[in-house]
Amino acid sequence: METVLSGIRSTGQLHLGNYFGALKNFVKMQHDACCYFFIADYHSLTTHPDPKLLHDNVKNALSEYLAAGLDPEVATIYIQSDLPQTAELSLLLSMHAYVGELSKTVSFKDKIRQQPNNINAGLLCYPVLMAADILIHRATRVPVGKDQEQHLEMTRNFAQRFNQFYGVDYFPLPQSYNFGEASIKVPGLDGSGKMGKSEGNGVFLVDTDEVIRKKVMKAKTDSGPTEPNQPMPEAIENLFTIMQIVSPADTYHYFLDKYNNCEIRYGDMKKQLAEDMIAVIAPIRERIDDIRSNDKYLHEVVSEGARKAAENANRTLKEVREIMGIKPF
Ligand code: TYM
Repeated sequence: METVLSGIRSTGQLHLGNYFGALKNFVKMQHDACCYFFIADYHSLTTHPDPKLLHDNVKNALSEYLAAGLDPEVATIYIQSDLPQTAELSLLLSMHAYVGELSKTVSFKDKIRQQPNNINAGLLCYPVLMAADILIHRATRVPVGKDQEQHLEMTRNFAQRFNQFYGVDYFPLPQSYNFGEASIKVPGLDGSGKMGKSEGNGVFLVDTDEVIRKKVMKAKTDSGPTEPNQPMPEAIENLFTIMQIVSPADTYHYFLDKYNNCEIRYGDMKKQLAEDMIAVIAPIRERIDDIRSNDKYLHEVVSEGARKAAENANRTLKEVREIMGIKPF
């Protein structure tokens, strides 16, 4: 059976980018494969979050995941720091990860720009820790959005380098996964770039119907096309991309035809888009509070998740240590 793994940083609430980029695919796959889902709290330490808030963020992310349909009866759901075997594997893999390649990673270069006063080694080694998350379970498929593709490629490089260096066929080469389709980027509502946690351009799984309507109505548009079949400016193209992801296909084509015939009324399009977002989000949001307030349930989910994840992780670590020559006396 295939092993599938996905994860998310615990730095804020989940938005539609997380949902459509990774979570929804994972939820669909969880019954057909051996699935691991985890919350990357080690990774979020790279931005130095307030220690008082870190645990709350982990709890929020966990509750939102479960509300979105992750089933702890079938998938293994755990917190990254409950599986410290990952940290050891990261250390071992880092011996074959080169500073040159790490410093060229797009996410590292972005972070240098965003936090010039905190360029820590954790940021540089971020892709190695992510590779360890995946390789500790020897996962073959990783449902992620387009923004994580470079990290996945680096994971394959590290895995292949390890196999070659030690002359083994140990780590599989994991692929990003979106049901045979290209992985997606959900754009933000601000006209450019991807939807993100801190960009102020997102629609979150905890947003009320009213908040969703307000956010969508405020999305950037223009005065509309003046000639049939004109190429779209980025902000409009983004709105159509979001609609293509969130709304039924006939809705998307209906508005696309309107655009191509210069009959588009962005107000109507946004109203429809907001309702289609609400149809996805409202049922999830309604479950979040119940789950979040059930400490006993959350505790059971992560303890059982950590127990199941450790079975696999201990085996991998023992084998990797042996391959590298670390053996018991
Ligand atoms: P993170 O927390 O930024 O995002 C979690 C998942 O959501 C996807 N995503 C998006 N997909 C499409 N459009 C968007 N606008 C969008 N925004 C976010 C991401 O691609 C991701 O799949 N490094 C990872 C966390 C991680 C991980 C892993 C993931 C750590 N170890 C191992 C998979 C496997 C991250 O920062 O994701």
